Amino acid sequence: MTSVALLHRITDYANRPDPYPLYAELRRTPVVRDESGPYLVSTYWEIKGLLHDPRISSDLRNLTPEAAKAGGQEHDPNLPPAFIRLDPPEHDRLRRLSMRPFGPPHTPRRVFDMHGELEEIVSGLVDGLRGRDTIDLVDDFSYPFPVTVICRILGVPREDESHFHEWADTIAAGLDPVGTAEEREAQVQGVRRARGELAAYLAGLIEERRRSPRDDMLTAMATEHGPDGQMSPVEIITTAALLLIAGHETTVNLITNGMLTLLRNPDVLQRLRTEPGLAVPLVEELLRFEPPVQMLPQRTTLADIDIDGTIIPKGASLYLMVASGSRDPQRFTDPDRFIPDRPDNQHLGFGHGLHNCFGAPLARLEAQLALTALVRRLNGPSLVEDPPPYRQNAVLRGPRHLPIAISGVT
Ligand code: HEM
Repeated sequence: MTSVALLHRITDYANRPDPYPLYAELRRTPVVRDESGPYLVSTYWEIKGLLHDPRISSDLRNLTPEAAKAGGQEHDPNLPPAFIRLDPPEHDRLRRLSMRPFGPPHTPRRVFDMHGELEEIVSGLVDGLRGRDTIDLVDDFSYPFPVTVICRILGVPREDESHFHEWADTIAAGLDPVGTAEEREAQVQGVRRARGELAAYLAGLIEERRRSPRDDMLTAMATEHGPDGQMSPVEIITTAALLLIAGHETTVNLITNGMLTLLRNPDVLQRLRTEPGLAVPLVEELLRFEPPVQMLPQRTTLADIDIDGTIIPKGASLYLMVASGSRDPQRFTDPDRFIPDRPDNQHLGFGHGLHNCFGAPLARLEAQLALTALVRRLNGPSLVEDPPPYRQNAVLRGPRHLPIAISGVT
């Protein structure tokens, strides 16, 4: 493949329904330099190696001004980066502090405690579909479910959703590298405004929780003292914003991509109806086959790095094409086939290494419960449109709507 504006081809909306042939072209060499500057790494072992390599930085402040502008990721001096865009030791301290309210480090106990509550939310949403002959899975189910859950965990009032929905969408869309200089400038301005408004909103809420504590994560972050001390007010804001956005913009796509894949594979849908245990490996396969996070944009090299004979110089911007890595035939047998009980499925859907997804236990459980309930309770589901209309975003990819015809709800 030539290096002509690779990222433009990948972000081109025409390729959104099926970006995988483009990734297969990319993988002919593990690393390719895009015309606009960044290096794209697309093969499994190389991506995994880099995700564990201390010579790679996630810190936004290490991006060159050109790289930051090209990716719409300019650092706002008024708001320090959230821990997803920091390196150790700052990253580790904030991640540990955020883990505490979730239970002992690395144990998803709190998530298992939520099992019954999650099932109730799912049942309520499916009950609400009675009497309909067509549903939009995104608006009617996949979006409200994880948003309700993350709002409850954090302690953000669900009624305020109309405000932060828009802010979260603008910030998520800001991850995409966009076309002209003017478009980039507009994107940077939009993201900055959305971040500012979300920060002001959260600051008010955190102040309220400090005055009258409740049993939620905002209160815990605002009031707890532990071995790592306490988060500063601005750290609480950036962390809460990160969790709110992460809990919004990813699980919705996993559930929607999941139902789309099941409707395209009716034999698997039928199996899930009668074999609930299948949900666990099936969700892992979805994270490999149709992952909500397609690439990890804009890491920076802190030293010259040799990848398969290509030297990526110090200070370069890297895009790790995780969705491509998870379809690499050097790692996965028959990678373009959806195999719901695929063995040895160490996909890159939740990243890897020190930034691996903090919300993975929650996201997994949400998707397992959601898909199991949908296939059991929706009668005669069939796709109205295939492919469905996709969201603009290339980094966080998924359908904007998924119309499904049904003959009833059990
Ligand atoms: C990090 C995917 C749901 C919170 C990540 C990363 C990926 C990812 C690929 C690595 C980012 C990087 O290396 O730069 C997903 C997917 C989800 C999901 C596919 C749903 C299906 C969630 C949820 C939450 C969450 C529900 C919050 C409760 C986070 C946080 C990080 C992260 C805080 C940053 C971790 C760090 O930097 O140490 N996620 N995520 N995610 N995720 Fe998720």
